[in-house]
Amino acid sequence: MHSPNSEPETDTDLQAQNRPHLRQLALQCAAAFVVLSLAWPYFGIRNEALPWPETALLIGGVALLLASLTHQPWWWRLIHTLFAPLAWGIAELAIDPGWFLLAFILVSLFYRGAVTGQIPLYLSNNATASVLAELLSERPGLRFIDLGAGIGSVLRPLARARPDAQLSGIENAPATWLIGYLRTARLANCNWRWGNIWRANLAEYDVVYAFLSPAPMPKLWSKIQREMSAGSLFISNSFPIPELDASSVITVDDGRQTRLYCYRR
Ligand SMILES: C[S@@+](CC[C@H](N)C(=O)[O-])C[C@H]1O[C@@H](n2cnc3c(N)ncnc32)[C@H](O)[C@@H]1O
Repeated sequence: MHSPNSEPETDTDLQAQNRPHLRQLALQCAAAFVVLSLAWPYFGIRNEALPWPETALLIGGVALLLASLTHQPWWWRLIHTLFAPLAWGIAELAIDPGWFLLAFILVSLFYRGAVTGQIPLYLSNNATASVLAELLSERPGLRFIDLGAGIGSVLRPLARARPDAQLSGIENAPATWLIGYLRTARLANCNWRWGNIWRANLAEYDVVYAFLSPAPMPKLWSKIQREMSAGSLFISNSFPIPELDASSVITVDDGRQTRLYCYRR
């Protein structure tokens, strides 16, 4: 594992960090390949039809074995075990494939980040936005960005509280982007952008806020170190940079005791 301060050593490392879902897909395909390459000839020679329910269960078992051998987290092991049996069960329902396509498109409109980068959609609450406004009150002319800005749950209250500040939000899920755009359209100090957080130039901001997931944090910290200037501040809602002590941690007085990890540059 890389320390948060180190860059990925090779292109392959970088790809593995960026695309863990492809690794999981490869693992599931390997399990299916192993089982089918034995089962097909076996039942073919005996001139018998492949027993799909048992085959699906066996693929699940082999996938669990491979996931355990490669030390995947418990939820991935569960997903690998259930995937083939559930896929077989759902195929038995003979639902028109168009419905799956429609469901995928609808989910992607809101949860594109979860599909492409292990960053799902959940929103900062009002209490968190208030604490942020208070924390940043001593930075006149603040330039702030919310990386993965959702529907503007942080940007809108901050823009209202801080007419002197320039607030930016960048978002790449179409439905959330549109909702956020409509919610911030009338706020002159709000720059609501369509785009990818990995292409944003963080050098333009004094304060960067993110509420993402554990998965992107090491890569995000590398980007912050490269781009953010001395005296700037990175605030991560709920997800600390692994193996790095925060400059300070603020606990929000809300139902989930939200933690804001602050890292000074
Ligand atoms: C957990 S939500 C946080 C939303 C908002 N920052 C808040 O605190 O309410 C993470 C957001 O990041 C967005 N996102 C994920 N990956 C992204 C990417 N590569 N570029 C831009 N936005 C992304 C998701 O669509 C989602 O809206």
